[in-house]
Amino acid sequence: MKKIKLFPSIISADFTNLSKQIKIVEKAGVDGLHLDVMDGNFVPNITFGPLIVSAIKSITSLTLDTHLMIKEPDRYIEAFVKAGSDIITVHVETCPHLHRTIQIIKSNGVKAGVTLNPATSASSLIEIIKYVDLILVMTVNPGFGGQNFIPEMIEKIKILSRLRDNINPSAVVQVDGGVSLKNAKVIVESGVDILVAGNSIFNQKNITLAIRKLKKLII
Ligand code: DX5
Ligand code: ZN
Repeated sequence: MKKIKLFPSIISADFTNLSKQIKIVEKAGVDGLHLDVMDGNFVPNITFGPLIVSAIKSITSLTLDTHLMIKEPDRYIEAFVKAGSDIITVHVETCPHLHRTIQIIKSNGVKAGVTLNPATSASSLIEIIKYVDLILVMTVNPGFGGQNFIPEMIEKIKILSRLRDNINPSAVVQVDGGVSLKNAKVIVESGVDILVAGNSIFNQKNITLAIRKLKKLII
């Protein structure tokens, strides 16, 4: 029975109490932290860079899963690795030389992920799946936490999960955006290994309880 992992997305955390909130989710038994890096260029929002990643690295041993929603990510791979990222995921839409970008991430000794926006076809990943460690399916348009899950993405998750099974069974499939108690089960049944959740964890009255309910649904 495969273990489904849960990575809270800190974009929805209380940044005035980030260290405390990370300790809470760590204690609640999450498997990693999803760090949304946004440049205000590829996506309309701006969040944080390597400085915050290294601060987080200094207070937790959780896997740091860095989602680069930035143009020309090659320029920052080394900085995010140095800051403590364990996984670096790039958007197919921002990498004209995606094979080289994935090689650069891996040559820096961390796991390489690729992701795609809701309107980008699953077929855009066919040639790269064999080289990656992680396939992230965006189930919202990137840029903000707290958006609604796009249900049509379930079909896309199933397609990418099957492609992973056939081309690179050791890669994991991750889903990000609008994950909640309402859709967690159907997402897992579509062949997903890691769920990212921001709003349904950090914006709940009781974070620990929110994680416990989500974990109960997906384990
Ligand atoms: C959106 C980010 C997601 C988002 C997840 O651009 O990549 O990680 O913050 O947050 P929720 O679960 O609130 O959609
Ligand atoms: Zn993300």
